[in-house]
Amino acid sequence: MRYVGTKRKLAKGILPYIQKALAALPNAKYIEPFVGGCNMIDQVKHHTRIGCDANPHLIALLKTAQSNPEKLLEVECLSRQAYKYLKSNKEPYLDWYVGLMGFMPTFNNQWFHSFHEDLKPGRFSASIRSLINQDLSGIKLINCDYQKIPIEKRNVIYCDIPYRIEDYYKMLFNHDEFYEWARFASKDNIVLISEYEMPEDFTCIWQKVVKPRINAIARNKVEKLFIYKH
Ligand SMILES: C[S@@+](CC[C@H](N)C(=O)[O-])C[C@H]1O[C@@H](n2cnc3c(N)ncnc32)[C@H](O)[C@@H]1O
Repeated sequence: MRYVGTKRKLAKGILPYIQKALAALPNAKYIEPFVGGCNMIDQVKHHTRIGCDANPHLIALLKTAQSNPEKLLEVECLSRQAYKYLKSNKEPYLDWYVGLMGFMPTFNNQWFHSFHEDLKPGRFSASIRSLINQDLSGIKLINCDYQKIPIEKRNVIYCDIPYRIEDYYKMLFNHDEFYEWARFASKDNIVLISEYEMPEDFTCIWQKVVKPRINAIARNKVEKLFIYKH
């Protein structure tokens, strides 16, 4: 799915680390607590893949894309005015529909960001087609905060967290709480984390220089993959 912060272009570099971890733990579950647009999990080859996200509208949209993609194709984009109304009155609408309108016609497919369909007509339907062409079969999708995921043992967990320096998802993510959670989860699991920087007790095992398109302050950042140093 077209998604702000997508790791699709970085998957070539990151996937070998995920697949190597899964090869070391063949009975593991593969878990993504921050699944976003499913742009990494859809490329992971494994028997059990679980994707979670705290955005209920996103998960409802992804589930509809899995079970009834034709339904998405039938929807017409709202006008700018109707979009603005929906943005502040989500309650009466179905979650998947709010998800569709919150991501598909917006600037950079960013959650209820500025409306771009009238500036770039066709963006809405192209984004929907891109989603329904994605192979989401076999992925178990769950709406929950990452802290609610039961931490079991011997699983592989890939965390593509919101960047510390950019708040695209408007969820006021507490990074210090996440670092504590990741240290704990790393005791009995293989936990891989995507970020620009992490505290010193996490080691960078892979990196790539990238030029994000959106935010000037993030230009020429180095995308990194981290693991906790035991
Ligand atoms: C960087 S994006 C993931 C992008 C995804 N890897 C992709 O390639 O499409 C981070 C995701 O974390 C989610 N998120 C933010 N806070 C969260 C929380 N506390 N628990 C679970 N998910 C959260 C956001 O909704 C967003 O979808």
